[in-house]
Amino acid sequence: MSVKNIGSIGGITPYFDRINYRVKGWVSIDGIVPVLGSNNLIEKTMADCHELAKKNNATRISLRALTTKDLKVKNEEARIPISSELDLSYIGRNEVSRTNSQRVIQEERRILENLLSTTKLSEDPIKRVAGYKIETSNDFSERDLTDIKKLFETAYERNGRIVMWYKPSQENIRKVLKNSVVTVARNGEKIISLTAAEKATIPTSIGEMDWYEMSDAATLEKEKRFGLVQACTFKNMEYIFSNHPSAVYGEARACNIGATKSLLRLGFKYAGFLPKHVKIGGSRNVNGIRGDIEDLNVLYKEVE
Ligand SMILES: CC(C)(COP(=O)(O)OP(=O)(O)OC[C@H]1O[C@@H](n2cnc3c(N)ncnc32)[C@H](O)[C@@H]1OP(=O)(O)O)[C@@H](O)C(=O)NCCC(=O)NCCS
Repeated sequence: MSVKNIGSIGGITPYFDRINYRVKGWVSIDGIVPVLGSNNLIEKTMADCHELAKKNNATRISLRALTTKDLKVKNEEARIPISSELDLSYIGRNEVSRTNSQRVIQEERRILENLLSTTKLSEDPIKRVAGYKIETSNDFSERDLTDIKKLFETAYERNGRIVMWYKPSQENIRKVLKNSVVTVARNGEKIISLTAAEKATIPTSIGEMDWYEMSDAATLEKEKRFGLVQACTFKNMEYIFSNHPSAVYGEARACNIGATKSLLRLGFKYAGFLPKHVKIGGSRNVNGIRGDIEDLNVLYKEVE
């Protein structure tokens, strides 16, 4: 597996993502992402993706496009403001068979609305976890990698299986984290919580843009709900914002309260909903979800 295949942001040209049974990519021309003022190229790309999906039995198409503010995009699932002139649009379409029940979707919506109306900004995420070491690094020792492997195996466990978008061997973890901004929390020397943001430099018609996707968040079971992931994400943000990002966003499991709340507490805003988007494990606050592919909430941090 190459790093490109195990990362979250993926390639530019649409491809079949066999782990998640979907076709995924950007609306692009010759590997460059143009700023779109009309739906023409989106429709053409959707039609091409439909063919690719049919050939591979994929049940979802998920595209991203860079658009002008005023463009009304068909099949839009989420929209992230990038600047006063541009937005990042998520476009998607699922086969009828690929959906959660209305009851599950309504329950996820109820959790989200409750969080949007009640969540307060965290006052001092680092002070809250005084006593733990919060450090940004991607130079991890073998012992650290053993801790991180254990952390992922626990956080993404479901019914005795580990459900992740790549096999969490130490080698794969090292590769993924090398390409990411990573902050860990330590209790003594032991890593007990981690946040990672994957960086991708996207070639666009107006120059290269650096996008950061919050790709991983995990805390050991008995250390959950102390604010550890918030502290790690806060420190990650300090690093990312000192590097002038073009976009900073996360895709949080809609059935898990902590995943969305930890981002809202840090001032992230809600941008949309990706139905049955990826295969991912971990505990759920919603019952009755069939299979391992979950709905995600898109959240972003304003960059301007
Ligand atoms: C999601 C996860 C990373 C959060 O880690 P964490 O260290 O517990 O997160 P934090 O404590 O920083 O923030 C979570 C917030 O949600 C709240 N929360 C979590 N579960 C909750 C629940 N069932 N009911 C109410 N609030 C809940 C916490 O209390 C906290 O809010 P607070 O600041 O008001 O106390 C952790 O639960 C985990 O490892 N989950 C499994 C893997 C996963 O889903 N990763 C995310 C992928 S998108």
